Amino acid sequence: GKVALLMGGQAAEREISLKSGRAVHEALQRLGIDVEPLDPDATILERLRAGGYDRAFIILHGRGGEDGQIQGALETIGLPYTGSGVLGSALGMDKYRCKLAWTGCGLPTADFVLLRDESDLAAAAELGFPLMIKPVHEGSSIGMARVESVEGLERAWRAAAEFDSLVLAERWIRGTELTCAILGREALPMIRLETPHAFYDYEAKYSADSTRYHCPSGLDAEVEARLHELALQAFDVVGASGWGRVDLMLDEAGQPFLLEINTVPGMTDHSLVPMAARTAGIDFDDLVRRILETSL
Ligand code: DAL
Ligand code: MG
Repeated sequence: GKVALLMGGQAAEREISLKSGRAVHEALQRLGIDVEPLDPDATILERLRAGGYDRAFIILHGRGGEDGQIQGALETIGLPYTGSGVLGSALGMDKYRCKLAWTGCGLPTADFVLLRDESDLAAAAELGFPLMIKPVHEGSSIGMARVESVEGLERAWRAAAEFDSLVLAERWIRGTELTCAILGREALPMIRLETPHAFYDYEAKYSADSTRYHCPSGLDAEVEARLHELALQAFDVVGASGWGRVDLMLDEAGQPFLLEINTVPGMTDHSLVPMAARTAGIDFDDLVRRILETSL
């Protein structure tokens, strides 16, 4: 059967999706799989129906492609697809409701305030500084800022609000930044990230030479095992499945805090999931094959 590779899309992370998509496309070709890249727009359903595909590989990041919309459309035409279903995708893309779900089951996440309008800024300032300001439905740190004092808060909120009507203010966790890739029902080796930037921003993610990646993470095996368990729980609680990535912090007292989940994480050859897979002895092509199998 033929695989429809959905890449590109209309979200702010389009460029990253095209990069991820190109890498996945090459891998699928090396695996001898019949694959056609499709860039979704308003005609995507007709194209999917007419193309004679037997499944879809979703490598769309951000709104429209990672948030349950395309997943719901694929459900209606009965085409199996990789990764999370509608609910897990929608919750995974919503940083606010994801945190509500986690706190609701007692999973640790940094204190937060939803900024709907100016009147919410005072409550955010009460969390204390630094604060992270984040558009609720973005990825790749787009629209995010770290704010050191009340003076910068309103400006950061307005900048984030350019991307999203909902903005989150989150207490900054001082400590170690970690990410946990998930493949099937397994957590892959953790990656520990170090950046000289104020936070792990777009540039630190995709272009800076100064970002350091440690995989294996160097964490105590017992600590890593506990964090694996937490990441799998965090993923499961929001209904995510198949594959993805959970980002978290470990504070200086050794207390973990969940940051967010990504149900279609980056798959460029500099991305984190391929890095973790490599440490686990799974090369890029094998990783792509295993992700494709999550559609079955
Ligand atoms: N949102 C980007 C693609 C990631 O999480 O890798
Ligand atoms: Mg994200």
